[in-house]
Amino acid sequence: MYLEILPENLTCTQIHTHNHSTKNIIISSALSSKMHVPEFHPVTTIFVILFALSFSIISISPTLLFLCAKGRKAKDIKNKTFIYQSLKQAKVILNGSSDGKFRRLEDISTILKSRAEPNSRLIRAFGIDNAFTTSDPQHHRDFVNRASDLLNLSNSQWKSLAKHIDTLVKGNVERQRVSSFDGHSRTVIFSQLLQITVLRAVLSVLFPNGGTPQLSEEEQDSIAYEVAEKITSLWIESKSTEITSNPRDLESLMEACQKLLPGIDTRVENPLNLILPAFETLWRIVLRGFLEVQFRDKENFSLNKSLFSEYLTSPTSTVFMREDTRGVSVSHIINESLRLYPPTKRVYRKIQTESTQPDVAIDIEQIHRDPETWGSDANIFRPSRWRKSEMNKTIAAAFIPFGMMPLICPARKIFGPRIIGIFLAALLGAINEFGELDVVGAMVEGEVLLENGRNSYGEMGMRSRK
Ligand code: HEM
Repeated sequence: MYLEILPENLTCTQIHTHNHSTKNIIISSALSSKMHVPEFHPVTTIFVILFALSFSIISISPTLLFLCAKGRKAKDIKNKTFIYQSLKQAKVILNGSSDGKFRRLEDISTILKSRAEPNSRLIRAFGIDNAFTTSDPQHHRDFVNRASDLLNLSNSQWKSLAKHIDTLVKGNVERQRVSSFDGHSRTVIFSQLLQITVLRAVLSVLFPNGGTPQLSEEEQDSIAYEVAEKITSLWIESKSTEITSNPRDLESLMEACQKLLPGIDTRVENPLNLILPAFETLWRIVLRGFLEVQFRDKENFSLNKSLFSEYLTSPTSTVFMREDTRGVSVSHIINESLRLYPPTKRVYRKIQTESTQPDVAIDIEQIHRDPETWGSDANIFRPSRWRKSEMNKTIAAAFIPFGMMPLICPARKIFGPRIIGIFLAALLGAINEFGELDVVGAMVEGEVLLENGRNSYGEMGMRSRK
């Protein structure tokens, strides 16, 4: 097998060298058997020739080694990215060890480079220069430290943030729901509501000196939506080799950011360095968590809703972890949402070998849905699986929505899970306040998992019955 045969402490660079030489040994033995062909039965001869030929082809192209590699590995031939779907492989590729313990800190610049290359499209699209795009260990450390400091909130800051998010969500629902022209009920589009409110909340956390825009709430919502839409379209364009984005698109995105952040000079500091990793991940996971709790986990709806409403009133770590009579907590619901719908579905690396530079991806989504780890109900949203009684080391190690050491997300322990909880709580409160609601757009009920794409559920919303 490909990665499975590796010694435990190989670095990414060594993986392929080792694999390559292993294959070469097999190739030479296959070729030497070809020399004895006349002594074989004709059928055996044909078989041996085919066998030898196939190995000769493999020896021509090191890239083919990847295509032939065994193990649970899919491939994306179109983009020439090799996708790995097992935790063991993820550990080897992301931290250069098979036990998950990253040991070789001197290799950090190689690891940063392996990530910076696939992310260079983000520099072209957004002009960013952050932890995801740099190969310089000092720059990386400074950026991650800055992000960690910004995300480290005191209890009173959590309280103000929860209030702020609740106000943003309620205000936006009210504005989306009632047309300012005719006072009639309209549809509240969830993705729109979340993109606007998550962006505005994230700006308030990441830019404490961002200043107060001299704009009405409605104007701020509308500019926030413009920013969100532009980020999405530039993101999609950056992935395409055919579309080249117009430089004017980035300029107008910066102008919109500047209106929301009058206190900083966006020509000097690109706010997208911080906005991108936070905004893109958060709004998508909150949407999935909300759809599960509101529409799919019906049996537990009331109990889940009370957990969230208590957390919104008192957004402390104690209430976040507090288990109800079922043994379920807000934290368990968030973990289960992140397990089934990790917003970073895959992390990408370009690996340097002696002869090739393959693009590889770790498929976090598949690792999170593997029945071997998560059991036969791996594809079911079941927050109770996070209760202590069901926890074990294998499950804990296979939960990697925030990546892995050494490039693990600074929001993983506290900020990420807790702000998702606050958004879910605010949304559940605001949406259910309006009495009976009609769902508009995609059907989300049933056993099939929700879609996890950026554009899924873009039309989905609710309209209150009058
Ligand atoms: C649910 C929310 C989030 C998820 C699922 C998430 C996910 C991830 C993942 C998977 C990585 C590793 C990427 C890789 O290995 O290439 C990562 C790294 C990172 N994330 Fe997050 N993230 C979230 C929220 C945030 C927020 C709010 C920020 C704040 C700015 C942030 C900042 C970062 C940074 C700076 C890194 C790079 C860490 C390093 O290189 O050492 N993330 N995140």
